[in-house]
Amino acid sequence: MAQLPPHHQLVQTDDGSFTLFSENFQEACHSTSGAKSETLLHYVKGCRVPERLSPHSTFTILEVGFGLGLGFMTTLEILADLQGKWHFLSLELDRDLVEWFKEENKDHPLLSGLTWIKDSILELRAPNFILTILVGNARETLPLYAQDSKIKWNAIYQDAFSPKKNPILWTKEWFELLKLHSATDVLLSTYSASSSIRKSLFESGWIIHKGEKFGPKRSSTRASLVGESDPDILLQLERSPVLALTDGNILVKA
Ligand SMILES: C[S@@+](CC[C@H](N)C(=O)[O-])C[C@H]1O[C@@H](n2cnc3c(N)ncnc32)[C@H](O)[C@@H]1O
Repeated sequence: MAQLPPHHQLVQTDDGSFTLFSENFQEACHSTSGAKSETLLHYVKGCRVPERLSPHSTFTILEVGFGLGLGFMTTLEILADLQGKWHFLSLELDRDLVEWFKEENKDHPLLSGLTWIKDSILELRAPNFILTILVGNARETLPLYAQDSKIKWNAIYQDAFSPKKNPILWTKEWFELLKLHSATDVLLSTYSASSSIRKSLFESGWIIHKGEKFGPKRSSTRASLVGESDPDILLQLERSPVLALTDGNILVKA
């Protein structure tokens, strides 16, 4: 195994798969109940990726936080034998993580062609899929990339660190940006069920649904742009005194 990225420790989780603990954020990239099982449940299944892959158009997935690449690797494994093209666009602040992933996979039959096409963009073009990783602060890299490429995503893996540790990727303004570049059939999925992030989503125009439980967490969140929000969640949000996270109020707290 290549040397671990600085300021990270490797942690084995309950299903045998590994995650990384970040010393900078003081948080692990996945639930210790099972990194791979969580990724499958919340993201690949949560966004109904395999059943929505189509032979007629490219299915686009946005991942918020590339981490150790488990979201991508799990998606690749599930989609490997299915018909249809897909584009996996991922956002990562820490260049060392991305360099580590590249080094770890330099002999992988499908991933050895990963190439820096710009100083901050690592990309791979395979026959059935494209992987693009934008390195830098997602609040800056994503708007520029989305505007230039005119991309619209069908699935969003909202997998930043927790709202307490990583609030800039959970604000109303962030979710407005995600909505702006989403296809009508988009499904957004996240492990968080906190009322503040549900309010951020709702106030930025997303329709909110309850997601599956995983490990010790009792619930999670799915969001879409069509249909109606779950009435129980709306009632809960109405009764909750917490505020939606906004770029303004997280700066005040920091
Ligand atoms: C929970 S981990 C993602 C795990 C990943 N999805 C996986 O399956 O391996 C969150 C990631 O978000 C990254 N991150 C934190 N703040 C960011 C920012 N402002 N822009 C882009 N990435 C960020 C962290 O460096 C970390 O790798």
